[in-house]
Amino acid sequence: MRRPIIAGNWKMHKTISEAIELANGLRRNFVNDIGIDIVICPPFTALSEVGEIIQDSFIQLGAQNMHWEDKGAFTGEVSPLMLKDLGVKYVIIGHSERRQFFGETNEIVNKKVKSALKHNLIPIMCIGESLEERKKEKTFEVVKNHLEGGIEGINLDSPENLIIAYEPVWAIGTGINATSSQAEEVQGYIRELLKKIFDKELAEGIRIQYGGSVRPDNIEELIKERDVDGALVGGASLDLITFTEIVKKAGEVIKIKI
Ligand code: PGA
Repeated sequence: MRRPIIAGNWKMHKTISEAIELANGLRRNFVNDIGIDIVICPPFTALSEVGEIIQDSFIQLGAQNMHWEDKGAFTGEVSPLMLKDLGVKYVIIGHSERRQFFGETNEIVNKKVKSALKHNLIPIMCIGESLEERKKEKTFEVVKNHLEGGIEGINLDSPENLIIAYEPVWAIGTGINATSSQAEEVQGYIRELLKKIFDKELAEGIRIQYGGSVRPDNIEELIKERDVDGALVGGASLDLITFTEIVKKAGEVIKIKI
């Protein structure tokens, strides 16, 4: 049984004081283990303060990006060592916004994934097709390309050390989520690909999140699916009540998920 994981990607939102307020609220709302890993990914500027608030709680700290080098002349970049220093445990890599607006390729994603693993950070590697690619029936091709390119040559000691987030680009921030069967169709396919790359047991243990317009009114359907092991939540993670509802509803479903 894979332990589900729900992560909030705050993107370029929240000043330090706003981040503190949200983190405090979440800490108050999750005083018990509800059987789900809860991760929040504030912007770099708020990692330190948020990290302190959620220390020793059931909420864990994630970053939204990193460079692959430990240090050097890379103006504006943040290294894995710096993230470790802040108590970061997870790092989102290859989000479609990074691929689209900052030119991240599979090669770059692969370097970052390898570096994260080397530093004992858990990469949440994002993959997914655009609307145009889906219309041209290229979804499986694109997902395969992103997956294989991103994890090429990695050594995985344990399935818990890698998270894949299937995020169809057409569903991100649009209010149009993939249906649960659309998500399962692709995520089941991702699982089959993982079985070819790693051994079967390892592949069965890797968690695959769904991301793209996840809300309190669609999380239950999504997380019921066999290969939907959680969610990567953008917009709906910025509000205390909404994000809390998403996680709690998921918690109810996984109590009965076989
Ligand atoms: P959204 O974003 O939930 O706002 O659609 C998801 C993401 O980009 O990870």
